Amino acid sequence: MLRAVSTDVVETVGRADSVAGEVVLRRRGEVTELIVGGVFVMDTVDVSTEVDLADIALSLHPRPERVLVGGLGLGFTAAAVLADPRVRHVRVAEIAAPLALWAGEGLLPAPGLADERLTVEVADVGSVLGATAGGWDVVLLDVDNGPGFLVRPENTDLYARAGLRSAAAALAPGGVLAIWSSHRAPDLLAELRRSDRGTAREIVRRVHREGREFDYAIYVLTP
Ligand SMILES: C[S@@+](CC[C@H](N)C(=O)[O-])C[C@H]1O[C@@H](n2cnc3c(N)ncnc32)[C@H](O)[C@@H]1O
Repeated sequence: MLRAVSTDVVETVGRADSVAGEVVLRRRGEVTELIVGGVFVMDTVDVSTEVDLADIALSLHPRPERVLVGGLGLGFTAAAVLADPRVRHVRVAEIAAPLALWAGEGLLPAPGLADERLTVEVADVGSVLGATAGGWDVVLLDVDNGPGFLVRPENTDLYARAGLRSAAAALAPGGVLAIWSSHRAPDLLAELRRSDRGTAREIVRRVHREGREFDYAIYVLTP
């Protein structure tokens, strides 16, 4: 989640206000960047772990038909879900309304979002989880950097006991929960391990950016 340093010309693709602050989508050469509330959220330099989040969870479910994604971002996790032909319905809860709009207008860089199986809803994923208990084969959460480095303090509860229990309770029997984090989060793993919904594990992916190494983590709860 570090800003790329580049001398490329910057082109603003979209700029609009939202409840999360001003949302800016811009291109720097080949790279698309997302800034929310003045904070750099992500870019397209390496989206392998956003894709992994979907691929790992989907690989652990025999029939992942109904998938909830928390956080649209630039759309790569949702696109990876849609690439699985077994998936029949993908609901994305995104707090920043402009991103939902831009997804519909084809402005996001992820491929394949123009798909009738996809619904993007402007909502806090915490509310959606609470309102859809037992409804999902797969729940994917990538709404923030992870519990140790939150962009939105309002997301604290999502990564703590109440939020994690709500996410687990949103799973249908046999469901899989996966959570992306920009850092290893032992407290989150311990909390998932307390769940009576299944087995929790940590998958660490090393990503190289701008000459540095980052250990991103994906936390998975399986039956
Ligand atoms: C890191 S991005 C997600 C990246 C995405 N996985 C991808 O592949 O591009 C995080 C997104 O979550 C959204 N977000 C933050 N808090 C949220 C919440 N509580 N509910 C729903 N969306 C949220 C942000 O506006 C942002 O678009």
